[in-house]
Amino acid sequence: MLDKQLEQALNDQINFEFYSSYLYLNMSAQLAAMNLDGAAHWMRVQAQEEVTHAMKIYDFLIDRDAEVCLQNIETIGEKYNSLVEIYEVTVGHERKVTCRFNDLIDLALEKRDHVTNSLLQWFISEQIEEEANVRTILEKAKMLSSSPDSLYLLDKELGARVASAPIAEKIN
Ligand code: FEO
Repeated sequence: MLDKQLEQALNDQINFEFYSSYLYLNMSAQLAAMNLDGAAHWMRVQAQEEVTHAMKIYDFLIDRDAEVCLQNIETIGEKYNSLVEIYEVTVGHERKVTCRFNDLIDLALEKRDHVTNSLLQWFISEQIEEEANVRTILEKAKMLSSSPDSLYLLDKELGARVASAPIAEKIN
């Protein structure tokens, strides 16, 4: 039986993952409006990835015979002015996600729930990659976005992103 406090915290994390998806989809729409179609595609894939994160926790709660409690998703109204600004926000957001998983792991260990801890270890490892990827893109955006030719090439590179295999399997 899953501890109630842990169950609530995991439901909150499902909500935060869907919020992350909204955040990135809003960024994708704004990048498309800036005619940065490659970056818009990258963010759209990221938004899809966040949904798979939410569903991974959702499936875990179902498997543990715990209650899934879907909550309202906060409305996203932020406007952005540049590719650099968008990736600055993205880096900050992913750092926040990592902090949340650290806190969740602390709680799982406090409750001596090693099965939940095992799930959360997957997420915390994933965060290393997520943070590194967005940091790299931010640094490239800072270096290249003042020149239209370089920005075009960066946008093209971002447009080549494909969803990773397990995510593609889950979406399709
Ligand atoms: Fe679900 Fe980008 O963390």
